[in-house]
Amino acid sequence: MATEEAKGPAVLKTGSLGSVQVEPLTCSIGALLSNVNLGAAARDDALFAEIKALLLTHKVLFLRDQDFTRAEHVAFARRLGPLEDHPALGSDPDTPGLVRIYKDLSSPPEHYENGWHCDGTWRATPPMGAVLRCIEGPEVGGDTVWANMAKAYEDLPEHIKAQIAPLRARHSIEATFGAVMPTERRHALKAQYPDAEHPVVRTHPETGEKVLYVSGFTTHFVNFHTPANVRYGQDFAPGASELLNYLIGRAAIPEYQVRWRWRPNSVAIWDNRCTQHYAVQDYWPAVRKMERAGVVGDAPY
Ligand code: SIN
Repeated sequence: MATEEAKGPAVLKTGSLGSVQVEPLTCSIGALLSNVNLGAAARDDALFAEIKALLLTHKVLFLRDQDFTRAEHVAFARRLGPLEDHPALGSDPDTPGLVRIYKDLSSPPEHYENGWHCDGTWRATPPMGAVLRCIEGPEVGGDTVWANMAKAYEDLPEHIKAQIAPLRARHSIEATFGAVMPTERRHALKAQYPDAEHPVVRTHPETGEKVLYVSGFTTHFVNFHTPANVRYGQDFAPGASELLNYLIGRAAIPEYQVRWRWRPNSVAIWDNRCTQHYAVQDYWPAVRKMERAGVVGDAPY
């Protein structure tokens, strides 16, 4: 009897695009690139174009042994777009745009590292992506996991897709980074970065994919409470908070994920418009030092 040949997703094949060697790490997200140096890619239009195309296909790209300078780090990231500052994480004083995420014995073990999130959705224009390098990491632990939120949307039941199509949601730095701050500082943070409102399903501006766009920064839907959904102050099932929790929980499904083990000079480049990530906080009191260049993005639609 003839057996049907196993078929994987068409775009996710090991091989090369131009000079870059590409090895997909899962069936849905993430590829390991080799034979490429990002310092050189910062100066090489054709190489950069290859990497950008791979990023749109695989959503997260991983590289080992990237011994470039901080200036080359931000120069490469700037090819993707202007860089942003972060109000809660310290920047490198000599390299504007390079955010230091340093965790050592001076940082308490409880913080926001270990929540599923899409970076900066508390901004009206969240970052389009980021380039993250490990400077120093634990012997074991401190991995980062990414999830493909276009796949998470695609797999939703049709009735949920219909229900969430018109919904918009609030995203808050106050309720997340601000939650550990004394009240006055929290209010000042919120005054500087008021909550943002985004569609629950966004369209990727370059690939056209629909993306499930709620995560750890999302506090509530802003337009759920219509007469059709809520009667006498009570939600119909599924209620707003149940629905939001269900949607936020999609990132935790392993089939949508890739998990990356860091070593010094390992790099991840991710498309923040269609992924979420989770930095696993299992390594304390070991030291973990990361440097990230975040790239300014567009208003989601
Ligand atoms: C981040 O959340 O942008 C940082 C991820 C990490 O440190 O692994």
